[in-house]
Amino acid sequence: MTDVRPNVTMIAAVGRNGVIGDGLTMPWHLSEDLRFFKRTTMGHPMVMGRRTFDSMGVLPGRRSIVVTRSPEWSHDGVEVAHSLEQALDRVAGEGEVFVVGGGELYRLAMPYAARLLVTEVDQSPEGSVTFPDIDRDVFTETFREAHDGFAWVTYERSSGRPGTS
Ligand SMILES: NC(=O)c1ccc[n+]([C@@H]2O[C@H](COP(=O)([O-])OP(=O)(O)OC[C@H]3O[C@@H](n4cnc5c(N)ncnc54)[C@H](OP(=O)(O)O)[C@@H]3O)[C@@H](O)[C@H]2O)c1
Repeated sequence: MTDVRPNVTMIAAVGRNGVIGDGLTMPWHLSEDLRFFKRTTMGHPMVMGRRTFDSMGVLPGRRSIVVTRSPEWSHDGVEVAHSLEQALDRVAGEGEVFVVGGGELYRLAMPYAARLLVTEVDQSPEGSVTFPDIDRDVFTETFREAHDGFAWVTYERSSGRPGTS
């Protein structure tokens, strides 16, 4: 199954202190970045943790796979998986899948990620949920675009096959 899994891209907005949220919501409202998120993910499947789904709800135009340990959990408009691997197998045959958070899912998905799209936010908010460390021996910065209050940064895996590290 592994060979037909799509490329995994993680997309996240991250504060200077690594914070991405407080467990319920995002610590900022960046309209331009939300538009970037929408146009980047549109038409592609998205994988998310159940807590992120609770904070975002169903996003139209994108197949959503919600990862939960609960055998009972379900919601109209989304698919359910009980592990990240099961979520990736569900989207086998797709070209690219976006892992859209939150902290627990980013940590699970880091070994599978081929690309990271990180919005570096010029803020250090309070919050208990963080983005995992980016190993610079594994990921290389390939693109950076500065904006007022944030920067869009792309990292690409430069060593190790995703899913084998
Ligand atoms: N800044 C950003 O770009 C960004 C993006 C997304 C989210 N966020 C923020 O991140 C926060 C949420 O992140 P989080 O880390 O608390 O939660 P999360 O990663 O969204 O979801 C965690 C949930 O995923 C399920 N899960 C985790 N590991 C699993 C496993 N191995 N197998 C099966 N299911 C598993 C569990 O669901 P069950 O409890 O149902 O079993 C767990 O409670 C919010 O504040 C949100 O706003 C920020």
